[in-house]
Amino acid sequence: MIEIKEKIGIRIHAIVDLMPTVANVADVGCDHGFTGLLSLAKKKAIQVIATDISEPSLRKAYDLAGEYGLMSFYDFRLGDGLDVIDKDEVDAIVISGIGGELMRDILERGKNKISNLTTLVLSPNNREDVVRSWLYFAGFVVVSERIVEENDKFYQIFTAKVSSSSIRDISDTALGNHMVDTPEALLKKYYDYKISQLKETLTELEKAKDAQEKIDEVKISIAMYEDKRNGV
Ligand SMILES: C[S@@+](CC[C@H](N)C(=O)[O-])C[C@H]1O[C@@H](n2cnc3c(N)ncnc32)[C@H](O)[C@@H]1O
Repeated sequence: MIEIKEKIGIRIHAIVDLMPTVANVADVGCDHGFTGLLSLAKKKAIQVIATDISEPSLRKAYDLAGEYGLMSFYDFRLGDGLDVIDKDEVDAIVISGIGGELMRDILERGKNKISNLTTLVLSPNNREDVVRSWLYFAGFVVVSERIVEENDKFYQIFTAKVSSSSIRDISDTALGNHMVDTPEALLKKYYDYKISQLKETLTELEKAKDAQEKIDEVKISIAMYEDKRNGV
């Protein structure tokens, strides 16, 4: 049994909990390495490939694994996104703690590395909508999702797989259809937060010129979130 000494936050716990139990996982952009460590400790994975584009970041994960005497369960790879992973090499790919646009770019560039058997476990810091739209148009379906609140910030965590059908649900581009382990009160709070953010954006857009198309998009998003909030 692995005894964790560090205090690992609720966000990383939730990421590992939402991940299916797999033989091996790639933690892309691992930095501190807590996701890999917790995956082993919770017996969610047997082997971890820890990757990062930054050598000092990767070293943190390397040192952590060494501290716990777990080197034989790891492979460490320095490189950009999914470039350092082979197709079918891992059952799950975790990408978390980076912005949604960068995450989308990593997925787009590395999409040939993701097979029908791969589960993506994703938690962008922002612009979840960008990642979810990419998933939808690239032929993935969202399988499970949850919200966590850590240090007064909300995080979406969602898992996705290649769709076995050509029919997908466009409403998967927003949160809500596959929610697990998220208290209703937190979900309502999250929707209220999203609605108030969008309303602020709308007020700004209404002052701008030639923003009608964007205004219409934001109004649709507000209506969708209100609908979801009322359905909780
Ligand atoms: C804020 S940390 C997030 C660490 C951890 N995944 C988490 O959720 O807490 C972001 C990490 O992503 C790495 N990163 C940024 N762009 C990357 C890329 N294109 N490929 C791999 N790693 C990347 C950074 O070097 C950094 O270590």
